[in-house]
Amino acid sequence: MTTYSLLILPGDGIGPEVMAEVRKVIGWFEANRGLSFDVSEDLVGGAAYDAHGVPLADATMEKAQSVDAVLLGAVGGPKYDNLDFSVKPERGLLRLRKEMDLFANLRPAQCFDALADFSSLKREVVAGLDILIVRELTSGVYFGEPRGIHDDGNNPENEGGRVGINTQRYTSGEIRRVARAAFELARKRGNKVCSMEKANVMESGILWREEVQWVHDNEYPDVELSHMYADNGAMQLVRHPRQFDVIVTDNLFGDILSDAAAMLTGSLGMLPSASLGAPMANGRPKAMYEPVHGSAPDIAGQGKANPIACILSFAMALRYSYDQGADADLLEKAVEKVLADGTRTADLLGPEGGTPVSTAEMGDRIVAALGALA
Ligand code: IPM
Ligand code: MG
Repeated sequence: MTTYSLLILPGDGIGPEVMAEVRKVIGWFEANRGLSFDVSEDLVGGAAYDAHGVPLADATMEKAQSVDAVLLGAVGGPKYDNLDFSVKPERGLLRLRKEMDLFANLRPAQCFDALADFSSLKREVVAGLDILIVRELTSGVYFGEPRGIHDDGNNPENEGGRVGINTQRYTSGEIRRVARAAFELARKRGNKVCSMEKANVMESGILWREEVQWVHDNEYPDVELSHMYADNGAMQLVRHPRQFDVIVTDNLFGDILSDAAAMLTGSLGMLPSASLGAPMANGRPKAMYEPVHGSAPDIAGQGKANPIACILSFAMALRYSYDQGADADLLEKAVEKVLADGTRTADLLGPEGGTPVSTAEMGDRIVAALGALA
Protein backbone atom coordinates (compact mmCIF):
# COMPACT_ATOMS: atom_id res chain seq x y z
CA MET A 1 0.00 0.00 0.00
CA THR A 2 1.34 3.45 -0.94
CA THR A 3 1.54 5.96 1.87
CA TYR A 4 0.93 9.53 0.75
CA SER A 5 2.57 12.36 2.63
CA LEU A 6 0.60 15.45 3.54
CA LEU A 7 1.75 18.57 5.39
CA ILE A 8 -1.13 20.35 7.09
CA LEU A 9 -0.67 24.05 7.83
CA PRO A 10 -3.86 25.22 9.58
CA GLY A 11 -2.65 28.81 9.98
CA ASP A 12 -4.83 31.47 11.60
CA GLY A 13 -8.44 32.35 12.35
CA ILE A 14 -10.85 29.63 11.23
CA GLY A 15 -7.98 27.65 9.65
CA PRO A 16 -7.52 25.23 12.59
CA GLU A 17 -11.23 24.51 13.03
CA VAL A 18 -11.94 23.77 9.36
CA MET A 19 -8.78 21.64 9.23
CA ALA A 20 -10.07 19.52 12.10
CA GLU A 21 -12.96 18.48 9.84
CA VAL A 22 -10.56 17.55 7.03
CA ARG A 23 -8.80 15.28 9.54
CA LYS A 24 -12.09 13.40 10.02
CA VAL A 25 -12.42 12.98 6.26
CA ILE A 26 -8.84 11.72 5.98
CA GLY A 27 -9.59 9.25 8.79
CA TRP A 28 -12.61 7.97 6.87
CA PHE A 29 -10.61 7.38 3.69
CA GLU A 30 -7.95 5.51 5.68
CA ALA A 31 -10.49 3.32 7.44
CA ASN A 32 -12.71 2.62 4.44
CA ARG A 33 -10.83 3.07 1.17
CA GLY A 34 -7.48 1.47 1.83
CA LEU A 35 -5.57 4.74 1.61
CA SER A 36 -2.72 5.58 3.93
CA PHE A 37 -1.56 9.08 4.74
CA ASP A 38 1.54 10.23 6.55
CA VAL A 39 0.16 13.48 7.97
CA SER A 40 2.35 16.08 9.65
CA GLU A 41 1.31 19.48 10.92
CA ASP A 42 3.14 22.77 11.29
CA LEU A 43 2.66 26.53 11.64
CA VAL A 44 2.20 29.25 9.06
CA GLY A 45 1.16 32.91 9.09
CA GLY A 46 0.47 34.68 12.37
CA ALA A 47 0.66 31.38 14.28
CA ALA A 48 4.22 30.88 12.99
CA TYR A 49 5.08 34.50 13.76
CA ASP A 50 3.92 34.06 17.37
CA ALA A 51 6.09 30.98 17.77
CA HIS A 52 9.15 31.85 15.68
CA GLY A 53 9.01 35.57 14.84
CA VAL A 54 8.60 34.74 11.12
CA PRO A 55 5.46 33.78 9.16
CA LEU A 56 7.12 30.59 7.88
CA ALA A 57 10.09 28.88 9.54
CA ASP A 58 12.87 27.50 7.32
CA ALA A 59 12.24 24.00 8.66
CA THR A 60 8.58 24.23 7.61
CA MET A 61 9.63 25.41 4.16
CA GLU A 62 11.94 22.41 3.84
CA LYS A 63 9.22 20.05 4.95
CA ALA A 64 6.81 21.57 2.39
CA GLN A 65 9.35 20.89 -0.35
CA SER A 66 9.58 17.22 0.60
CA VAL A 67 5.93 16.13 0.83
CA ASP A 68 3.48 14.94 -1.83
CA ALA A 69 1.10 17.79 -0.96
CA VAL A 70 0.56 20.71 1.40
CA LEU A 71 -2.89 21.63 2.70
CA LEU A 72 -3.13 25.17 4.06
CA GLY A 73 -6.02 26.67 6.05
CA ALA A 74 -5.82 30.46 6.05
CA VAL A 75 -3.46 33.19 7.21
CA GLY A 76 -3.81 36.63 8.77
CA GLY A 77 -5.86 38.52 11.31
CA PRO A 78 -6.19 41.95 12.92
CA LYS A 79 -3.64 41.04 15.57
CA TYR A 80 -0.98 41.09 12.86
CA ASP A 81 -2.10 44.15 10.92
CA ASN A 82 0.64 46.39 12.23
CA LEU A 83 3.56 44.02 11.76
CA ASP A 84 6.40 45.00 9.48
CA PHE A 85 5.56 44.13 5.85
CA SER A 86 8.36 41.54 5.69
CA VAL A 87 6.88 39.39 8.49
CA LYS A 88 3.17 39.80 7.78
CA PRO A 89 1.27 36.46 7.74
CA GLU A 90 0.71 36.75 3.95
CA ARG A 91 4.47 36.64 3.38
CA GLY A 92 4.47 33.04 4.63
CA LEU A 93 1.93 32.07 2.00
CA LEU A 94 3.77 33.95 -0.74
CA ARG A 95 7.07 32.30 0.24
CA LEU A 96 5.49 28.85 -0.09
CA ARG A 97 4.10 29.69 -3.53
CA LYS A 98 7.37 31.20 -4.77
CA GLU A 99 9.88 28.69 -3.38
CA MET A 100 7.78 25.67 -4.37
CA ASP A 101 7.37 27.38 -7.77
CA LEU A 102 3.61 26.78 -7.78
CA PHE A 103 2.96 28.69 -10.97
CA ALA A 104 -0.53 27.42 -11.82
CA ASN A 105 -3.30 28.30 -9.40
CA LEU A 106 -6.56 26.47 -10.15
CA ARG A 107 -9.65 28.16 -8.80
CA PRO A 108 -12.85 26.40 -9.80
CA ALA A 109 -16.09 28.35 -9.41
CA GLN A 110 -18.90 25.88 -9.42
CA CYS A 111 -22.47 26.64 -8.50
CA PHE A 112 -24.07 23.83 -6.49
CA ASP A 113 -27.66 23.49 -7.50
CA ALA A 114 -28.85 23.53 -3.90
CA LEU A 115 -27.22 26.93 -3.45
CA ALA A 116 -28.08 28.71 -6.71
CA ASP A 117 -30.47 31.01 -4.87
CA PHE A 118 -27.69 32.29 -2.62
CA SER A 119 -25.84 33.93 -5.45
CA SER A 120 -26.18 37.69 -5.68
CA LEU A 121 -27.08 37.04 -9.33
CA LYS A 122 -30.29 35.48 -10.57
CA ARG A 123 -30.60 31.70 -10.48
CA GLU A 124 -30.94 31.47 -14.27
CA VAL A 125 -27.60 33.25 -14.72
CA VAL A 126 -25.62 31.05 -12.34
CA ALA A 127 -27.38 27.66 -12.21
CA GLY A 128 -25.06 24.97 -13.53
CA LEU A 129 -22.08 27.33 -13.58
CA ASP A 130 -18.77 25.45 -13.77
CA ILE A 131 -15.74 27.54 -14.65
CA LEU A 132 -12.08 27.22 -13.82
CA ILE A 133 -9.78 30.17 -13.36
CA VAL A 134 -6.11 29.38 -13.90
CA ARG A 135 -4.16 32.16 -12.26
CA GLU A 136 -0.41 32.60 -12.73
CA LEU A 137 0.90 32.54 -9.16
CA THR A 138 4.66 33.07 -8.94
CA SER A 139 5.40 36.15 -11.01
CA GLY A 140 3.92 39.43 -12.21
CA VAL A 141 3.42 42.42 -9.97
CA TYR A 142 3.40 40.26 -6.81
CA PHE A 143 7.10 39.53 -7.18
CA GLY A 144 8.49 41.89 -9.87
CA GLU A 145 11.52 44.07 -9.17
CA PRO A 146 12.09 46.94 -8.61
CA ARG A 147 9.61 47.38 -5.81
CA GLY A 148 9.39 49.45 -2.66
CA ILE A 149 8.54 52.83 -1.22
CA HIS A 150 11.19 55.46 -1.94
CA ASP A 151 12.01 59.02 -1.17
CA ASP A 152 11.38 61.21 -4.22
CA GLY A 153 14.43 63.37 -3.57
CA ASN A 154 13.34 66.93 -3.03
CA ASN A 155 10.90 66.93 -5.92
CA PRO A 156 8.87 70.11 -5.39
CA GLU A 157 6.07 68.76 -7.62
CA ASN A 158 5.44 65.74 -5.41
CA GLU A 159 3.57 66.65 -2.26
CA GLY A 160 4.61 64.22 0.45
CA GLY A 161 7.86 63.42 -1.34
CA ARG A 162 7.48 59.62 -1.71
CA VAL A 163 7.10 57.09 -4.55
CA GLY A 164 5.61 53.60 -4.35
CA ILE A 165 6.82 51.14 -6.99
CA ASN A 166 5.82 47.66 -8.10
CA THR A 167 6.76 46.02 -11.36
CA GLN A 168 4.62 43.95 -13.67
CA ARG A 169 7.14 41.65 -15.32
CA TYR A 170 6.54 38.43 -17.22
CA THR A 171 8.90 36.30 -19.26
CA SER A 172 7.64 34.40 -22.27
CA GLY A 173 8.57 31.16 -20.48
CA GLU A 174 6.42 32.03 -17.49
CA ILE A 175 3.46 32.77 -19.74
CA ARG A 176 3.89 29.64 -21.83
CA ARG A 177 3.99 27.25 -18.90
CA VAL A 178 0.81 28.55 -17.30
CA ALA A 179 -0.89 28.66 -20.71
CA ARG A 180 -0.01 24.96 -21.19
CA ALA A 181 -1.54 24.16 -17.80
CA ALA A 182 -4.75 25.94 -18.87
CA PHE A 183 -4.95 24.18 -22.25
CA GLU A 184 -4.32 20.77 -20.66
CA LEU A 185 -7.13 21.35 -18.16
CA ALA A 186 -9.47 22.64 -20.87
CA ARG A 187 -9.03 19.41 -22.83
CA LYS A 188 -10.44 17.51 -19.85
CA ARG A 189 -13.41 19.89 -19.54
CA GLY A 190 -15.19 22.05 -22.12
CA ASN A 191 -12.15 22.49 -24.40
CA LYS A 192 -12.32 26.31 -24.28
CA VAL A 193 -9.79 28.82 -22.95
CA CYS A 194 -10.29 32.55 -22.58
CA SER A 195 -7.09 34.49 -21.84
CA MET A 196 -7.39 37.83 -20.03
CA GLU A 197 -4.90 40.72 -19.87
CA LYS A 198 -4.71 44.45 -20.60
CA ALA A 199 -2.91 44.38 -23.95
CA ASN A 200 -4.50 47.75 -24.70
CA VAL A 201 -2.38 49.51 -22.05
CA MET A 202 0.42 47.16 -20.94
CA GLU A 203 3.35 45.74 -22.91
CA SER A 204 3.37 42.77 -20.57
CA GLY A 205 -0.23 42.25 -21.68
CA ILE A 206 0.78 42.27 -25.35
CA LEU A 207 3.44 39.65 -24.60
CA TRP A 208 0.87 37.64 -22.62
CA ARG A 209 -1.55 37.61 -25.54
CA GLU A 210 1.11 36.70 -28.12
CA GLU A 211 2.60 33.89 -26.05
CA VAL A 212 -0.75 32.32 -25.17
CA GLN A 213 -1.63 32.43 -28.88
CA TRP A 214 1.74 30.85 -29.74
CA VAL A 215 1.20 27.94 -27.34
CA HIS A 216 -2.26 27.48 -28.79
CA ASP A 217 -1.20 27.54 -32.44
CA ASN A 218 1.81 25.27 -31.94
CA GLU A 219 0.60 22.81 -29.31
CA TYR A 220 -3.15 23.02 -28.71
CA PRO A 221 -4.86 24.02 -31.98
CA ASP A 222 -7.77 21.71 -31.05
CA VAL A 223 -8.71 23.89 -28.05
CA GLU A 224 -10.89 26.94 -28.70
CA LEU A 225 -8.99 30.09 -27.65
CA SER A 226 -10.29 33.63 -27.18
CA HIS A 227 -8.75 36.78 -25.69
CA MET A 228 -10.39 39.44 -23.59
CA TYR A 229 -9.27 42.60 -21.81
CA ALA A 230 -9.45 41.89 -18.10
CA ASP A 231 -11.91 44.71 -17.36
CA ASN A 232 -14.29 43.36 -19.98
CA GLY A 233 -13.67 39.91 -18.49
CA ALA A 234 -14.86 41.18 -15.11
CA MET A 235 -17.99 42.55 -16.74
CA GLN A 236 -18.66 39.35 -18.70
CA LEU A 237 -18.21 37.26 -15.55
CA VAL A 238 -21.08 39.13 -13.97
CA ARG A 239 -23.19 39.43 -17.15
CA HIS A 240 -23.04 35.89 -18.53
CA PRO A 241 -20.58 33.71 -16.60
CA ARG A 242 -21.55 30.46 -18.29
CA GLN A 243 -19.91 31.60 -21.55
CA PHE A 244 -16.57 30.61 -19.93
CA ASP A 245 -14.91 27.27 -19.44
CA VAL A 246 -11.26 27.89 -18.49
CA ILE A 247 -9.95 31.42 -17.93
CA VAL A 248 -6.18 31.94 -17.87
CA THR A 249 -4.80 35.18 -16.50
CA ASP A 250 -1.91 36.75 -14.62
CA ASN A 251 -1.30 36.92 -10.88
CA LEU A 252 -3.01 40.23 -10.05
CA PHE A 253 -5.94 40.00 -12.48
CA GLY A 254 -6.39 36.40 -11.34
CA ASP A 255 -6.55 37.50 -7.71
CA ILE A 256 -9.36 39.93 -8.50
CA LEU A 257 -11.29 37.95 -11.11
CA SER A 258 -11.28 34.80 -8.98
CA ASP A 259 -12.89 36.67 -6.07
CA ALA A 260 -15.61 37.93 -8.41
CA ALA A 261 -16.13 34.43 -9.82
CA ALA A 262 -16.24 33.00 -6.30
CA MET A 263 -19.06 35.27 -5.28
CA LEU A 264 -21.15 34.14 -8.28
CA THR A 265 -21.47 30.74 -6.66
CA GLY A 266 -23.22 31.98 -3.55
CA SER A 267 -20.63 31.28 -0.90
CA LEU A 268 -16.94 31.81 -0.54
CA GLY A 269 -17.08 29.08 2.11
CA MET A 270 -17.49 26.48 -0.63
CA LEU A 271 -14.53 27.08 -2.91
CA PRO A 272 -11.28 25.10 -2.98
CA SER A 273 -8.09 25.83 -4.87
CA ALA A 274 -4.99 24.00 -5.99
CA SER A 275 -1.60 25.53 -6.69
CA LEU A 276 0.53 23.30 -8.88
CA GLY A 277 4.17 23.42 -9.92
CA ALA A 278 6.52 21.33 -12.02
CA PRO A 279 6.37 17.52 -11.78
CA MET A 280 8.39 15.89 -9.00
CA ALA A 281 10.35 12.62 -9.31
CA ASN A 282 7.12 10.62 -8.86
CA GLY A 283 5.57 12.38 -11.86
CA ARG A 284 2.98 14.27 -9.76
CA PRO A 285 3.20 18.07 -9.58
CA LYS A 286 4.46 19.92 -6.53
CA ALA A 287 1.26 21.08 -4.93
CA MET A 288 -0.42 23.13 -2.26
CA TYR A 289 -4.18 23.15 -1.67
CA GLU A 290 -6.14 25.85 0.14
CA PRO A 291 -9.67 27.12 0.52
CA VAL A 292 -10.27 30.39 -1.32
CA HIS A 293 -11.77 32.00 1.78
CA GLY A 294 -9.62 33.87 4.28
CA SER A 295 -9.07 33.47 8.01
CA ALA A 296 -12.43 35.14 8.93
CA PRO A 297 -11.22 36.37 12.34
CA ASP A 298 -14.69 37.71 13.17
CA ILE A 299 -16.11 34.18 13.50
CA ALA A 300 -12.96 32.26 14.49
CA GLY A 301 -13.23 29.83 17.37
CA GLN A 302 -17.03 29.89 17.47
CA GLY A 303 -17.78 26.73 15.49
CA LYS A 304 -19.55 28.77 12.80
CA ALA A 305 -17.11 28.36 9.92
CA ASN A 306 -17.99 26.31 6.87
CA PRO A 307 -15.40 23.53 6.45
CA ILE A 308 -16.51 22.61 2.91
CA ALA A 309 -13.95 24.71 1.01
CA CYS A 310 -11.14 23.07 2.95
CA ILE A 311 -12.65 19.59 2.54
CA LEU A 312 -13.03 20.16 -1.21
CA SER A 313 -9.41 21.32 -1.28
CA PHE A 314 -8.50 17.90 0.07
CA ALA A 315 -10.63 16.40 -2.72
CA MET A 316 -8.44 18.30 -5.20
CA ALA A 317 -5.38 16.81 -3.47
CA LEU A 318 -6.86 13.34 -3.94
CA ARG A 319 -7.26 14.09 -7.64
CA TYR A 320 -4.05 15.94 -8.54
CA SER A 321 -1.47 14.76 -5.97
CA TYR A 322 -2.59 11.24 -5.04
CA ASP A 323 -4.12 10.18 -8.36
CA GLN A 324 -7.31 8.99 -6.64
CA GLY A 325 -9.87 10.48 -9.02
CA ALA A 326 -12.66 8.12 -7.94
CA ASP A 327 -12.17 9.03 -4.29
CA ALA A 328 -12.14 12.73 -5.18
CA ASP A 329 -15.45 12.24 -7.02
CA LEU A 330 -16.87 10.40 -4.02
CA LEU A 331 -15.94 13.20 -1.63
CA GLU A 332 -17.44 15.84 -3.92
CA LYS A 333 -20.63 13.79 -4.18
CA ALA A 334 -20.80 13.51 -0.39
CA VAL A 335 -20.64 17.31 -0.11
CA GLU A 336 -23.37 17.66 -2.73
CA LYS A 337 -25.55 15.16 -0.89
CA VAL A 338 -25.21 16.95 2.43
CA LEU A 339 -26.17 20.24 0.79
CA ALA A 340 -29.08 18.66 -1.07
CA ASP A 341 -30.30 17.28 2.29
CA GLY A 342 -30.53 20.88 3.51
CA THR A 343 -27.54 20.92 5.88
CA ARG A 344 -26.31 24.50 6.19
CA THR A 345 -23.60 26.29 8.08
CA ALA A 346 -24.46 29.89 8.98
CA ASP A 347 -22.91 31.34 5.78
CA LEU A 348 -25.30 29.20 3.69
CA LEU A 349 -28.52 30.44 5.23
CA GLY A 350 -30.54 32.71 3.00
CA PRO A 351 -32.68 35.64 4.06
CA GLU A 352 -35.43 33.23 5.16
CA GLY A 353 -33.08 31.92 7.85
CA GLY A 354 -33.14 28.44 9.34
CA THR A 355 -31.02 26.63 11.89
CA PRO A 356 -27.34 26.39 11.04
CA VAL A 357 -25.18 23.43 11.95
CA SER A 358 -21.77 23.89 13.53
CA THR A 359 -18.46 23.39 11.79
CA ALA A 360 -18.04 20.01 13.49
CA GLU A 361 -21.58 18.89 12.64
CA MET A 362 -21.03 19.71 8.97
CA GLY A 363 -17.86 17.61 9.04
CA ASP A 364 -19.68 14.71 10.73
CA ARG A 365 -22.48 14.81 8.17
CA ILE A 366 -20.05 14.76 5.27
CA VAL A 367 -18.33 11.73 6.79
CA ALA A 368 -21.74 10.06 7.25
CA ALA A 369 -22.60 10.85 3.60
CA LEU A 370 -19.32 9.24 2.51
CA GLY A 371 -20.40 6.11 4.36
CA ALA A 372 -23.85 6.19 2.76
CA LEU A 373 -22.53 6.68 -0.79
CA ALA A 374 -19.55 4.30 -0.72
C1 IPM B 1 -5.43 34.99 -2.50
C2 IPM B 1 -5.19 36.01 -1.44
C3 IPM B 1 -3.70 36.29 -1.37
C4 IPM B 1 -3.27 36.89 -2.69
C5 IPM B 1 -3.26 37.17 -0.19
C6 IPM B 1 -3.70 36.60 1.14
C7 IPM B 1 -1.78 37.40 -0.20
O1 IPM B 1 -5.95 37.15 -1.68
O2 IPM B 1 -4.90 33.87 -2.38
O3 IPM B 1 -6.17 35.29 -3.43
O4 IPM B 1 -3.39 38.10 -2.91
O5 IPM B 1 -2.82 36.13 -3.55
MG1 MG C 1 -7.28 37.00 -3.32
